Amino acid sequence: MPIGRAGILSTESFPPHELNSFFRLVEKPRTNRKGSIGMLCFFEASTRTELSFEMAGLRLGMAWSKVEPSGLSLQKGESLRDTFQVLSHYKPDLFVVRHSVAYLPHAVSEWTGVPVINAGDGINEHPTQALIDTFTLWKMNSKKRYSIAFFGDVFRSRVARSNLKIWKALNWNVSVVDDGSENTKNFAKAFGIRVIPRRGIREADVIYCLRVQAERGSSYALSPLSNSDLSKKSKFMHAGPVVMGKDMLLELCERAHPQSLIHEQLKNSLPVREAILDEVLKRARA
Ligand code: CP
Repeated sequence: MPIGRAGILSTESFPPHELNSFFRLVEKPRTNRKGSIGMLCFFEASTRTELSFEMAGLRLGMAWSKVEPSGLSLQKGESLRDTFQVLSHYKPDLFVVRHSVAYLPHAVSEWTGVPVINAGDGINEHPTQALIDTFTLWKMNSKKRYSIAFFGDVFRSRVARSNLKIWKALNWNVSVVDDGSENTKNFAKAFGIRVIPRRGIREADVIYCLRVQAERGSSYALSPLSNSDLSKKSKFMHAGPVVMGKDMLLELCERAHPQSLIHEQLKNSLPVREAILDEVLKRARA
């Protein structure tokens, strides 16, 4: 089970029946977690993930200590391993870690033995975002086998990797729009998904638009997603932050756009992250 004593590091091997059980938990009332203290360790910028984890924990009765990277003794030459080992002695019940280095949350788990929630590690994974996205689709139709087309730089997207691991396990039909790059072709081959022409997204139930990861070297190979790319039946998603006019046109960013699931994703982030915190705390004490 990916949510275990170590926390949640990946969506790897999330068995579909456990996913269903977890989604049913999301819809149930949760335990009061007064007395639990988490540490928010964000070494990269975040609006949604950091603040929704903070709010989710507060709603459960938890308290948070926010680690500010610029104020740490890392600036004096201390290593990340020493830093996290020091923090572990202050007895947090869990860490929420975002870092530009892939697998850093896995290392923190090994160094400290404290449960770690991976809030994004380099291009590798963003498991809690994938749980939010999949819950959003499950809530619309829990029986459907969706066909989903990624639009954007899958190779540099941790959101794409985490979602794909779940969607492949669910046997959903996943493809990616050809942006002409070798990275996309190689990625598609490695994950066993189809590369389709842009017009092919009209056949998909859902178009998942990815942010251009400029900080990781993405460039704008595709012109922005627009209303003209959508068929009447298709919905579209984006994990945010949307780079308006680059990832998609302003016309798709309207809150009331009838085909957009973006605000559903945002709305669902709170109950999903509450359930994740509740499960991690429960399992850490089991
Ligand atoms: N979706 C996501 O991870 O957004 P933030 O970078 O704002 O946390």
